[in-house]
Amino acid sequence: MAIEDTVAISLRTIDNSNWRQALQVLVEPEQLRFVADHQPVALVILAKCYVQPSGVEWTPCLILQDGEPVGVFALAFTDATTVLINFAIDRNHQRKGIARAAVEDVVTLLEEKRPGCDRLILTVHPDNVAAQALYRSTGFVPTGDWSDGEPVWSRAIVHDRPTRS
Ligand SMILES: CC(C)(COP(=O)(O)OP(=O)(O)OC[C@H]1O[C@@H](n2cnc3c(N)ncnc32)[C@H](O)[C@@H]1OP(=O)(O)O)[C@@H](O)C(=O)NCCC(=O)NCCS
Repeated sequence: MAIEDTVAISLRTIDNSNWRQALQVLVEPEQLRFVADHQPVALVILAKCYVQPSGVEWTPCLILQDGEPVGVFALAFTDATTVLINFAIDRNHQRKGIARAAVEDVVTLLEEKRPGCDRLILTVHPDNVAAQALYRSTGFVPTGDWSDGEPVWSRAIVHDRPTRS
């Protein structure tokens, strides 16, 4: 049996203990239009957590690998849906499977901790080939809806998944 390499990361809420680490996460300048208007992207995330656009509460998240900040994103929880926003992997850590591992960790978190949530959704720019490949390979499909000028993609959250023996 082949055993694939897995990428070991951990997810943390951005808080008083790690917000400066989150600010170290930077994308390439040409990638910025796909994820935020300014960087560090964590600054935009933290501003939105304060402002709460559309009245929704945001949770700011940091991705760590071996204690080093390698990515950021935010989650917004609304009824049966969780929205993944401002997802950015640091430019020096891209193409190492970190985004894929982070998406899978978020899905596991929702399966285990948010029984009312049945969909993880996000938007992705039509020119963002990398992100579309990532989301397609992690089970997202376009819904046909648009939000803020971008197509909406969705992945089902399945609770009570049978345990593997
Ligand atoms: C898109 C992004 C999040 C991917 O992060 P990453 O950690 O490099 O992605 P991974 O290494 O986990 O790659 C997973 C899959 O995504 C796709 N992918 C990632 N980067 C890619 C690239 N530059 N070109 C084409 N496909 C790419 C591939 O299908 C890849 O699988 P593979 O390595 O088996 O081919 C990262 O490039 C990024 O932060 N970009 C700028 C911000 C952004 O676009 N965020 C998404 C907003 S919707």
